[in-house]
Amino acid sequence: MQRHHHASAAPLSVSRSSVPLSGTIAVPGDKSISHRALMLASLAEGRTTITGLLEGEDVLRTAQAMRALGAKITHEGEKWIVEGRGVGALSEPEDVLDMGNSGTAARLLSGILSSHGITSIMTGDASLRSRPMRRVTVPLAENGSCFVTRKGERLPMAIVGSSQATPISYRLPVASAQVKSAILLAGLNAQGETRVEEPVATRDHTENMLRHFGVPVQIDKIPEGGRLISLTGPATLKARDVVVPGDPSSSAFPIVAALLVPNSEIVIVGVGLNVLRTGLFATLREMGAVLLVENERIEGGEPVGDLRVKASALHGVDVPPERAPSMIDEYPVLAVACAFANGSSRLRGLEELRVKESDRLSATVALLVANGVSVRVEGDDMIIDGRDSNKPIGGGTVETKMDHRLAMSAIVLGLAADLPVHVDDTAFIDTSFPGFVSLMNGLGAGL
Ligand code: S3P
Repeated sequence: MQRHHHASAAPLSVSRSSVPLSGTIAVPGDKSISHRALMLASLAEGRTTITGLLEGEDVLRTAQAMRALGAKITHEGEKWIVEGRGVGALSEPEDVLDMGNSGTAARLLSGILSSHGITSIMTGDASLRSRPMRRVTVPLAENGSCFVTRKGERLPMAIVGSSQATPISYRLPVASAQVKSAILLAGLNAQGETRVEEPVATRDHTENMLRHFGVPVQIDKIPEGGRLISLTGPATLKARDVVVPGDPSSSAFPIVAALLVPNSEIVIVGVGLNVLRTGLFATLREMGAVLLVENERIEGGEPVGDLRVKASALHGVDVPPERAPSMIDEYPVLAVACAFANGSSRLRGLEELRVKESDRLSATVALLVANGVSVRVEGDDMIIDGRDSNKPIGGGTVETKMDHRLAMSAIVLGLAADLPVHVDDTAFIDTSFPGFVSLMNGLGAGL
């Protein structure tokens, strides 16, 4: 389970799929919801059973950290059982908390730790150690906690939590569900009303799941699409069972592959359809994709449906910046779709891509350039010229930079390309999508 930082790379050469992709699959559980389920269940009173949890490395890091803080977490097959400690009752970890590749685990847990009177030290892999933590340490320190980081507010960092945390009131300077969630989670053990204002709505899984665990969360709309979220601490969470839907962000990879490989038709069952996550689906439909939702239903408080995807002739698209939060993790694979589309595409407002598992803006450009696609960045926008029938796509080597989504995007590109695509390392796919290669092979990909 533990990734060794010097584990050998797993390179892969990907050739165009010789057959249409076909079949019915399910993708692993939602990563965002899985982290939150483990954290909230650990803060709850009583026993929570979680089904559909993503058993990827990122989420296993969260499970390991919550155990180190005193929660009892076991699993019997696919059923995960958490005996919570209750808000305020986490114990000091004996060793460094290693969050691996996971920014979500690091940021959300920082919020929880900031309002517990314990001292902890947090680190991560080389990718996570290069990512900014200032976006959480600045607002969280307002509650009386203290963060000591490396230069540039990077991990490893020490967190001296506050045993008498005051509530934070903060307007997010960047659209970030991680920052919003960190502040709300800190507020669970602060005395009084915690308020977060977000200028644009970001994924609301924390709010939904807090309500599921019995915490009253107030959500008010503010002008221009934003929200004001508040809760009053100290709060009590009551254990409640959680059903995790399939991850829409993971579903993006087989979806785009099926759109691009001629004559494909696939069905992905049980995909989460929270509107704050489905910007990619709207964008692909605007490009001409046949992407149908069937059997829409509510499961565990989140909308879920089955997606039917048919290979489609795509045309270029102009994606507005305000859509970015609802598809922030999907731009690399959208860029691959745009490379095969007819006409050029403009993806706007991508500044946050620079601080993901890699600098995804420049890494996505490099992925496309290496494979003969013409692409450029203007300010925070990416402009991709669609397929030019005189110029083959593929033939390049992609550097995945410890970034699972770049690796899967490169594989999707290769399945539709004219020339084989070499991917330097696919090992990080296990952070979010264990079994990706065999699942794609089950559809006929021949990887
Ligand atoms: C996530 C929020 C997003 C997203 C990440 C998961 C979450 O990050 O990119 O993969 O679970 O809250 P930001 O909050 O930094 O935008």
